[in-house]
Amino acid sequence: MLSGKHIVLGITGSIAAYKAVDILRAFKKKSAKVSVVMSRPAANFISPLTLETLSGQPVLVGRFNKKTSNLQHIYLAREADMLLVAPATANIIGKFAHGIADDFLSTLYLAFTNKVIIAPAMNVHMYTHKTVVNNMMYLADIGVDIIPAGEGELACGDTGAGRLADVDIIIEHVCSCFDSKKSLLGKKILITAGASREQIDDFRFISNPSTGKMGYVLADEAKRRGAEVTLISAPTNLLPSKQIKLIKINTAQEMYNTVVNHFDHFDALVMAAAVADYTPLNKFSGKIKKQGKPLTIELKPTIDILKSMGKRKKKQVVVGFAAEVENIIENAKEKLEQKNLDMIVLNDISKKGAGFGLDTNIISIIDKAGNVAEYPIMKKEAVAGVILDKVENLLY
Ligand SMILES: Cc1cc2nc3c(=O)[nH]c(=O)nc-3n(C[C@H](O)[C@H](O)[C@H](O)COP(=O)(O)O)c2cc1C
Repeated sequence: MLSGKHIVLGITGSIAAYKAVDILRAFKKKSAKVSVVMSRPAANFISPLTLETLSGQPVLVGRFNKKTSNLQHIYLAREADMLLVAPATANIIGKFAHGIADDFLSTLYLAFTNKVIIAPAMNVHMYTHKTVVNNMMYLADIGVDIIPAGEGELACGDTGAGRLADVDIIIEHVCSCFDSKKSLLGKKILITAGASREQIDDFRFISNPSTGKMGYVLADEAKRRGAEVTLISAPTNLLPSKQIKLIKINTAQEMYNTVVNHFDHFDALVMAAAVADYTPLNKFSGKIKKQGKPLTIELKPTIDILKSMGKRKKKQVVVGFAAEVENIIENAKEKLEQKNLDMIVLNDISKKGAGFGLDTNIISIIDKAGNVAEYPIMKKEAVAGVILDKVENLLY
């Protein structure tokens, strides 16, 4: 969850400073990059060498480090995803609240534009002092997350609030900040994926090269955003994440039957499946024998699932996909209109980097008003994000 994230761990002069070691180790275990910044008093409580060894990064202590660039506070602020100060003393809270920038950590805070979290630790009378309370309230007001101190026996012998929050609580809070917004919480999304198979005989079928990846990635992203997701999938080699309800089908007719059975109970349908337009008029039973002469297989059109759902929809958002090679915008606009869709994701499969079986796609999204949004080549995960952002706009 923290893989690829860069966290600055600020440590200040509290008796709880030793607990920063556990925080640092938990971050490293979760594959985060951690840069430690310590106030000068913090170095009296815990050795910078310990933190340097555990983080694998140079530790900045006190004021500006002569070995690093003079603008290191700006570079670090630009690069890091989060600043967590744990433990945070009454002093650093006061400095943050009043814009005092007299050492590296307090200067970094002012230059920092990403998420800032502080976990206070101090004596109960300090923690409940009006000045400290006001400073914390002010910081919370301007968007700093404050992880409340725990209650119990304090190092000074007093009892009450002021203990550094449990390391598990701090880690959980940090992780939750990187979790995607649960923007589809309470919404039910029906997604189709894969290439349908139209049987010619018991052993052969007509299909297409779709791997199903786009639909599966969409299902994962919708789930991450908190939606209840049902994925209706033609055969693929993919596995959806556990909390996604998977219904396996083979043919276009089975896809239709399953979609129609679910559609009314859903908020949105995203038809990413590559469903056959034609199916054999008659399926041979058994195996067609090789006869050494031309064989004619008559095809009939399959039922148009998108068009049927476009007609059937009440308040659902219906999203179609169009894989086109010529007159692409006109064809896609026509499809959108004829099928009463809310938007269509257009895939120019003649372009390099777009289409079946790739990890990337090049899409345009056309909405009901005819607006065309064009996107550069993107990984399918990013494409899923763009599509679901638009679905969200239509749902709310
Ligand atoms: C043994 C000892 C323990 C301390 N524990 C705390 C503490 O838990 N919280 C706090 O706010 N200050 C505590 N202080 C006071 C701070 O270290 C002091 O205010 C210092 O100036 C904080 O500087 P800093 O915020 O730059 O680290 C303690 C001081 C000592 C000597």
